[in-house]
Amino acid sequence: MNDQQKMENIVSLAKRRGFIYPGSDVYGGLSGTWDFGPLGVTLKRNIMQLWWKMFVEERDDMYGVDAAILMNQKVWQASGHVATFTDPLVEDEVTHLRYRADHLLKDAGYSVDGLSLADMTKLIRDNNVKSPAGNDLSDVRTFNMMFKTTVGPVEDESSVSYLRPETAQGIFTNYKNVLDSFYPDLPFGLAQQGKAFRNEISPRDFIFRSREFEQMEIEYFVDPTKWEESFEHWRKQVWAWTTALGLPTESVHELEVPENDRAHYSKRTIDFEFDFPIGREELLGLAYRTDFDLGNIQRESGKNMEYTIKGTNNKFVPHVIEPSFGVERAVMAVLSSAYTEDEVNGEKRIFLKLPEHLAPVKLAVSPLLKNKPELVEKARAIYADLKKKYGAVMWDDNGNIGKRYRRQDEIGTPKCIVVDFTTLEDGTVTVRDRDTTEQKRVQPSEL
Ligand code: GLY
Repeated sequence: MNDQQKMENIVSLAKRRGFIYPGSDVYGGLSGTWDFGPLGVTLKRNIMQLWWKMFVEERDDMYGVDAAILMNQKVWQASGHVATFTDPLVEDEVTHLRYRADHLLKDAGYSVDGLSLADMTKLIRDNNVKSPAGNDLSDVRTFNMMFKTTVGPVEDESSVSYLRPETAQGIFTNYKNVLDSFYPDLPFGLAQQGKAFRNEISPRDFIFRSREFEQMEIEYFVDPTKWEESFEHWRKQVWAWTTALGLPTESVHELEVPENDRAHYSKRTIDFEFDFPIGREELLGLAYRTDFDLGNIQRESGKNMEYTIKGTNNKFVPHVIEPSFGVERAVMAVLSSAYTEDEVNGEKRIFLKLPEHLAPVKLAVSPLLKNKPELVEKARAIYADLKKKYGAVMWDDNGNIGKRYRRQDEIGTPKCIVVDFTTLEDGTVTVRDRDTTEQKRVQPSEL
């Protein structure tokens, strides 16, 4: 199975088994949107809850917030997003279809690192690069990726707002509120999870690049003289996170982002890349945002953003370290490292080797035969007990036992429990392991 086949198999399994469906599928779809089905939403929430537990609940220097998606337009003017949150756009002169210039050039084998718009236009002209339809291309220009909308019944310049392109600004705008409520010692951080929106020129690669997605972001406020210490701290935390997701260490790579390619607010960025089936691509980012954002807010709002070290007159606008995590990218990394094909009894088997703590279904319970009331009754009782205890337990009596195992393998259920005639004699059930397919008999209380 090559990488392209693997990606196609994952997309197909995700739809077939109720993880991820194309958005608005019943109406022919809406490009760049995806819907999470019953198992996908559970997998996604397991990832988000793990993150919240690791980075908020288990620490005493972190606070959670949940800001509104719609924000005053001044937020996006001050943050630089209105002026600079753009991608390079190029247009097919005949079909008028639009493409990301850097993607077209990369796909044609050219390096685009650090190139300006004029450089990209020149590269296209010098090498006669054509659109995918074989037509001439326009000059490269910028395209702002924010979704614009209006708030309230009057549509004019003053009612303009945007769907947030990053959750980070909902954190920065609440820095002062949290300071006033809690006055935490420095360094401290604010964390937020939630939707973000980017009008991608060409969404692609399944949920990797979509127009609506979810972020988990931390803004960690530090003494400017100590930013490097905190940067290193979060670098280690990011590695701990990739381990908690069960991603193989050898598939995660750090990329020190050169100045030309860094976001407008960053003085240092490390992209953590993952070997996805679509290639080595960014999984998450770690940036040193300096006092760029709090400084802008202080200037534009006229409110003081300084932090005073307790018991001193030492005040300054804190600097910020930002670990920024994409939820869908985490889901895609977990699915791609879990997707496995092997052979059992001479037949091909597909299974998701999901870490137990992320698997949407932890246990499946079945009666060996569904037309034997005594087996069904016993299995139902065991199922009810386990469901009360673990929650994520599935009842499965569809088809023969082999089919049930295959179905549970495909959704990554770590253990299948079967109630058979021996259960009626000695109370033991069979437990079948997803990865080894081995079975053993145990008392339900030992599960
Ligand atoms: N806040 C950083 C980002 O959205 O990429």
